[in-house]
Amino acid sequence: MSSAPHQGGDNPRTVLTTPRLILREMTSADLGDMAALRGDPEVMRYYPAPKRRDEAQAWIDGNQQLYRRRGFGLWVVLVRATGEFAGDCGLTPQRVDGAEEIEVGYHIRVGLQGNGYATEAATACRDFARDVLGLRRLIAIIDPANIPSQRVAAKLGLEEEGRTTVHGGRRVIYSATICPKHRA
Ligand SMILES: CC(C)(COP(=O)(O)OP(=O)(O)OC[C@H]1O[C@@H](n2cnc3c(N)ncnc32)[C@H](O)[C@@H]1OP(=O)(O)O)[C@@H](O)C(=O)NCCC(=O)NCCS
Repeated sequence: MSSAPHQGGDNPRTVLTTPRLILREMTSADLGDMAALRGDPEVMRYYPAPKRRDEAQAWIDGNQQLYRRRGFGLWVVLVRATGEFAGDCGLTPQRVDGAEEIEVGYHIRVGLQGNGYATEAATACRDFARDVLGLRRLIAIIDPANIPSQRVAAKLGLEEEGRTTVHGGRRVIYSATICPKHRA
């Protein structure tokens, strides 16, 4: 894993690299790809509705704010070998039962799912949370029916902690303590 600080502007900074993937900050130039990803009913199956193009732009804007304010957010995932857009993955603050938690999130284009990309990208994000941000706890908020997402969380070392109401519905909370002694 390698990492670099936020740069901003039209020259998006690469934040993480893995054997097969690049995670870099998103910009407005990613709107077409992000609108296709977030507008895909299959990718958004466990969300209230697919996002419109203006909502995808708001998503990009929100993540850029997060980069500036917090030093993290959801990042664009690219396939290193081809430069192809694969999806997004990263870290976002969430309120769960009144407390702030940091969640690892991931969305992979349908055509590229099943290649281990979400696991590979999210593993790098988990390590970034631990080694760069110094976090000691990481969660994932997952619809109980979303088995692929729960599989990814488990492969990251997160375990089911319980269920609560978040984002207007019952969700499974996966969590892990990510202090150095738990390093793989
Ligand atoms: C969740 C998601 C990101 C996984 O992406 P991916 O790149 O395919 O993930 P990986 O290849 O790293 O791993 C997928 C795991 O789910 C499993 N899986 C996939 N489809 C499955 C299904 N229908 N039933 C059970 N397991 C399934 C795979 O077998 C794999 O687990 P394994 O390695 O133990 O076999 C992808 O399915 C996606 O984008 N879903 C829509 C967005 C979403 O729900 N994001 C999470 C929000 S909490």
